[in-house]
Amino acid sequence: MEHKELKELIQGIPKAELHLHIEGSFEPELMFEISKRNNISLDYDSVDSLKKAYKFNNLQEFLDIYYTGAKVLIHEKDFFDLTWAYLKKVHSQNVIHVEVFFDPQTHTDRGVHFDIVINGIYKALEKARIEFNMSFKLIMSYLRHLSEEEAFKTLESSLPYKHWIDGVGLDSSELGNPPSKFERVFKASADYGYQLVAHAGEEGPVEYIWEALHLLNVVRVDHGNRCLDDQDLVQTLVEQKMGLTLCPLSNLELKVVSSMTEHPVLKMLEKGLLATIHSDDPAYFGGYMNENYYETAKALNLSVNDIEQLAVNAFEISWLDNNTKGLCIGKVRSYFQQFKS
Ligand code: ADE
Ligand code: ZN
Repeated sequence: MEHKELKELIQGIPKAELHLHIEGSFEPELMFEISKRNNISLDYDSVDSLKKAYKFNNLQEFLDIYYTGAKVLIHEKDFFDLTWAYLKKVHSQNVIHVEVFFDPQTHTDRGVHFDIVINGIYKALEKARIEFNMSFKLIMSYLRHLSEEEAFKTLESSLPYKHWIDGVGLDSSELGNPPSKFERVFKASADYGYQLVAHAGEEGPVEYIWEALHLLNVVRVDHGNRCLDDQDLVQTLVEQKMGLTLCPLSNLELKVVSSMTEHPVLKMLEKGLLATIHSDDPAYFGGYMNENYYETAKALNLSVNDIEQLAVNAFEISWLDNNTKGLCIGKVRSYFQQFKS
């Protein structure tokens, strides 16, 4: 397929984004605008010099910049503007359902109250529901480089907003911070009715994926790239119909893979894993949903059927109710009919 045709095909797919950190959608232009209005200086004097710093050798180098950028977010309107900019962008890419992560501790640790953060984000999500007919779920992520006690405090702060939050996740520096550190807070989160997901096997070993399954009881694994190192784990993930939310451009930029042609997503599909494609932190990694699909499809020479499978899988492992899920999968399948002879 010609590159132009492939781009058009991808644009038209009704898509679900399930692995997106709202703080990672903070485009440099908006960051500068908000830094000016809040009178908080960034360490960079222009959008260009900031963008030049976006060269990472690993996850930690990225996280250091990501947390610095988030420091200009102070008021509810800042969180609203951030979220609304992301939603407008993905609406233009035909994303019809989003499940969005936010990192409360990145903000509460700076003295910005939980209420401010969640109100700004939630109001933008509601606006997208009304104006774009976009459905959404909200996932509160614990920062794994911080303590279990701090995660418990975050859980406590979330309780007045329990009706807005669908699940909890686990992100930030993976190596040295295994899922086992958060076993109790995940159990407590489940007791409050939250669904559970965790980043595992992005940089960390297969043992972290096993822990996410057996100690945290997650319903999805974020990334999970390393699972192919362990055939028993692959078999378990297939049997459990466990979703994996892969982020190819993120993996490339953070050197989780050495080139896009090395990306494991096609091998995962071939093994029957419920692999899916998302953008992670699109403002930092050079692309939103369309670009992630496109670069992956091009590098791995994905067939139309592979691309369809990725799009269907995302709805399959989403937290939409079964009826809506069926409708969305129907939309994907009927969209793909035109590409079949
Ligand atoms: N926070 C934002 N993006 C992340 C990633 N790719 N891995 C872990 N934590 C993150
Ligand atoms: Zn992530």
